[in-house]
Formats: sequence, C-alpha cells, structure tokens
Amino acid sequence: MKITLRIWRQDNAKSEGRMETYHLDGVSEDMSFLEMLDLLNEQLTASDVEPVAFDHDCREGICGTCGVVINGSPHGRYMSAVPTTTCQLHMRSFADGATIEIEPWRAGSFPVIKDLVVDRSAFDRIIASGGYISTNVGSAPDAHATPAPKREADRAFDNAACIGCGACVAACPNGSAMLFTSAKITHLAMLPQGQPERWTRVKSMVSQHDAEGFGGCTNVGECASVCPKEIPLESIAQLNKDLIKALFKADGK
Ligand code: SF4
Ligand code: FES
Repeated sequence: MKITLRIWRQDNAKSEGRMETYHLDGVSEDMSFLEMLDLLNEQLTASDVEPVAFDHDCREGICGTCGVVINGSPHGRYMSAVPTTTCQLHMRSFADGATIEIEPWRAGSFPVIKDLVVDRSAFDRIIASGGYISTNVGSAPDAHATPAPKREADRAFDNAACIGCGACVAACPNGSAMLFTSAKITHLAMLPQGQPERWTRVKSMVSQHDAEGFGGCTNVGECASVCPKEIPLESIAQLNKDLIKALFKADGK
C-alpha cells in the first residue's frame, strides 16, 4: 500500500504544533497501525529527520498506553468494524492511496508533551484519590471466602476492563473523564471488598476529577462509542447514584 500521512508535530509542551505531510510506500495491510508508524520512523531516521514520538507499550490492547486520534476519531474507532485500541487497528482498515490524519488526544487536562504523546498523569491522580481498597496484610484468603453475587461480579469485571487509555476524554466535547472515573468506581462498588470505602471513594474521585479540569458529563455518549473496552454509559449512572447517596449520608462516610 501507498499512503499519505498528515501528522501533528510538536517539539515540546511549550512550542506551537503543526501538521506535517509524509508519503509512505511499502505498507502491508497486515501491519498494525503502530508498525506502520515504526516504518515511517525508520525512514525518517534514515533521512536524518526526528522520528514521530508516540506512546505504546504492550501492543496487545491491554496497557492503555497507545492512543491517538485517527481521521478525527480516538483509536480510529470509525475506521474499524469493532471497538479497538490504536495498537490493534490494522492497515487493512484503510484503502490503498488513503490519506490518514493523526493527532494527539485533544483535551486541556491531557497537555501535549511531544508530537502524539500527551501527559495522562491526571488519571493516576484520580486513581490515587480513591481507586483502591484497604485491606489487612497477611496470607491470601481462600478464593471463595468472600462470596460475590454473579450479577455484581460480572458488572465489576466488565468495568475492571477499563485500560485507562483516555479515548473517552478525547471524544467528549466537554473533555469529561466521567466514563473512566465511573468504570473505576463501579468496579469497586460492585464487590464486597469495595464497600468499606464506597462512599468516601466516590466523593474523593469525583472531586479529583473536577480538580484536574475535566469537564462535566452531559450525556453525549461519544465516550462509550469510542471506548475500546465497551465500558457502558450505565457506569456513569452508577457513579451518579453513588455520589448522590454519598452526599446525603448523615455520617459523612
Ligand atoms: S473508559 Fe474506555 S475509553 Fe475511557 S479510559 Fe477506560 S478503556 Fe479508555
Ligand atoms: S500499546 Fe498497550 S493498549 Fe495499545
């Protein structure tokens, strides 16, 4: 395949960015999107041009590190028949001769560090504010010592699938991280182990979400449409239910 790439280049967090055009030949339709960028970078390096910086780690759709806006949609969602991460998108989703636009996540709370790499440490701070359970140390309990009803266990599992990629924020016109935050909250709220801190957790995580400058949710739903792990909007409803209960709890816990 021959393709034309229009890529956001930005030297550092303080510099102005610009779209640059590159022509790439010899792309296999079996290459992943990141392998195609590797090929571009090999050619740029050979021509003494600074390679394009982009984030990646597992390349298996697990770690959530990769993530760019492709032809206007996070992870190229509308190029693929199924929800996917950037690393699991393949070049067979594009036509020979196509022009592909690649940009970093666009959100005030995810500042660009360089080219396609953004700072997503705001997510780490939301997790640190309450996305955990406290438990006594000691030997591991038996697997079934704390039974969890099947329905709740399944919902916990579905929400635990969130990989923290940030596509939901990049897609949201409000730059809201409510889908991410609600996945973390719902995951723990469905499990017995998450109950002792359930009400303080939701208040603390939502407050950290707001402090990081993410916008509010207005039920647009674009977040769930692009989420590679299909976290449902219902999780945001669960967050709102828990938040209201927590705010009205007499003991403040
Ligand atoms: S909710 Fe989905 S889109 Fe948002 S961070 Fe988690 S996996 Fe990524
Ligand atoms: S590189 Fe890990 S999810 Fe894409």
